[in-house]
Amino acid sequence: MLVFTNVFFILLLLGLCAWMLDQFQTLVTMEAPWVKTPNEVLDQIAEKITIKPGDIVYDLGCGDAQVLIQLAKKNPNATFIGVEKLNYVCALAWLKIKKAGLHNVIIKKGDLYKLSIKDATHIYLWIYPQMVNKILPKLERELTQGVTVYSMDFPFHGKDPVAVYDLSGVKNKSYARKLFEYRF
Ligand SMILES: C[S@@+](CC[C@H](N)C(=O)[O-])C[C@H]1O[C@@H](n2cnc3c(N)ncnc32)[C@H](O)[C@@H]1O
Repeated sequence: MLVFTNVFFILLLLGLCAWMLDQFQTLVTMEAPWVKTPNEVLDQIAEKITIKPGDIVYDLGCGDAQVLIQLAKKNPNATFIGVEKLNYVCALAWLKIKKAGLHNVIIKKGDLYKLSIKDATHIYLWIYPQMVNKILPKLERELTQGVTVYSMDFPFHGKDPVAVYDLSGVKNKSYARKLFEYRF
């Protein structure tokens, strides 16, 4: 019995170490940290993004999915997909979705450069400028005509937005100031 208990705890410890190593490796290779779209601009963003029943909306690098949750409450007949690399942030997003009682929000754990987004009708991004430009070729390759992409704060290089919205942002902070809208 003692041997069995010891083996169990050793395996548990090894599993925990492997998980921590994986999270650490993910964190150090990440190009953008987890920062939430500020609450102050959530309503303004939800107002700008026009969604119809049947639409499929992605947040690439969704964090705790608060943007998707806000949009999903307003649009119960559309589907919302969050892509997030960090395990514990995915878990937090999942808990928040459960708490909100939403059935139209899905979280996919993975790398936003790798997961297919071919079914998207809308995409929301709040990732660093170098990431926005790194993902541009994938968007151009995978998105069918008419998909709307929103990028907060950071525009694409070499692509003109169809609209730029001023957001009220957060007092004394330079972020969450603009929402760039693109058509692919
Ligand atoms: C600035 S936060 C934005 C979070 C959320 N979209 C929001 O507006 O509240 C960027 C998010 O992208 C995630 N991220 C960074 N690189 C990623 C990658 N390669 N694949 C998937 N998620 C990534 C981070 O973990 C973080 O949660």
